[in-house]
Amino acid sequence: MTISQPHFTTRTSRYDSTALREAATLIRAGEPVAVPTETVYGLAADATDDQAVAAIYAAKGRPSFNPLIVHVSDWPMAKRIALFGESAQALADAFWPGPLTLVLPLIGGSGIAPRVTAGLSTIALRMPAHPAMLGLIRESGKPLAAPSANRSGAISPTRAEHVLASLGGKVRMILDAGPTSEGLESTIVAPEDTRIRLLRPGSITVDMLAKASGLPVESEGHHVPAEAIEAPGQLESHYAPSKPLRLNAMRGERDEYLIGFGLMPCHYNLSPEADMSEAAANLFAALHIADVSTAERIAIAPIPEDGIGAAINDRLKRAAA
Ligand code: TXA
Ligand code: MG
Repeated sequence: MTISQPHFTTRTSRYDSTALREAATLIRAGEPVAVPTETVYGLAADATDDQAVAAIYAAKGRPSFNPLIVHVSDWPMAKRIALFGESAQALADAFWPGPLTLVLPLIGGSGIAPRVTAGLSTIALRMPAHPAMLGLIRESGKPLAAPSANRSGAISPTRAEHVLASLGGKVRMILDAGPTSEGLESTIVAPEDTRIRLLRPGSITVDMLAKASGLPVESEGHHVPAEAIEAPGQLESHYAPSKPLRLNAMRGERDEYLIGFGLMPCHYNLSPEADMSEAAANLFAALHIADVSTAERIAIAPIPEDGIGAAINDRLKRAAA
């Protein structure tokens, strides 16, 4: 895309009712605002305003073939935008508001800007469980398109300071509500009549999806070629720190920053108690810290594959690719 890149003074504002009103004013003026969700911080803009959506792509340096997730605050808003089949409805009933994104048929004439879906006939939709994002949707009265608030391809932000480090000068405002609780981007699925296709693993696990839908869940598998991308979060190299990352490290080399899991000597421990949810919540902050450390390389301990571990290992494989 060839959109000229303006430079802004970036203000970080503590999330409260005044800051929320200011953020909503920016949204209505067609400006993107960085805002926390329960997963990661998003860069939100009015999903019905093509210029506002273009400003998201420009700020992130994101390729325009990679479509965005649209965030809604209530059911009527969701149903004006997308068609919910039986399995989609069951999953939304079970997990919304929450960290699950549904890829659904887009309703024609819904007013969603063409740039949001990058020309696809489907739309990725999610009702988030965070008062700041829900408040911003309600206050602005608009469905909000929001990718993670980082430069394209980099590690997702779980704290306001991560957003500032990645997008400082590119956005006017960051709403700061502290660290996010989940720490990994939402699970993305395409619900069908006879199966659920998993496009991106997250904290809503395969078992949870199967139980709530009563249908088999099929993983799309890793290393999807770029031309067959359905969710480009699947791109082999993504969520990447700037330094080489070594996986399944039992101990660190001299020039490595070692990220640990469970009781072990290391520079940063994801969870000394080996709690998987705690590890997921801390993962991106650990990678951010390792990335700005003086160490030349990063190493990380093995993470068990069960439950949310599958999503953690998915992100780690891409970060190391
Ligand atoms: O937790 C999250 O999902 C965060 C917060 C901010 O909500 N958002 C996020 O957005 O991770 P982003 O842009 O980093 O990832 C969105 C993913 C991309 O991999 C994109 O390709 C996929 O959703 N996607 C969007 N629309 C799609 C569609 N119609 N079909 C398939 N995949 C789609
Ligand atoms: Mg992202």
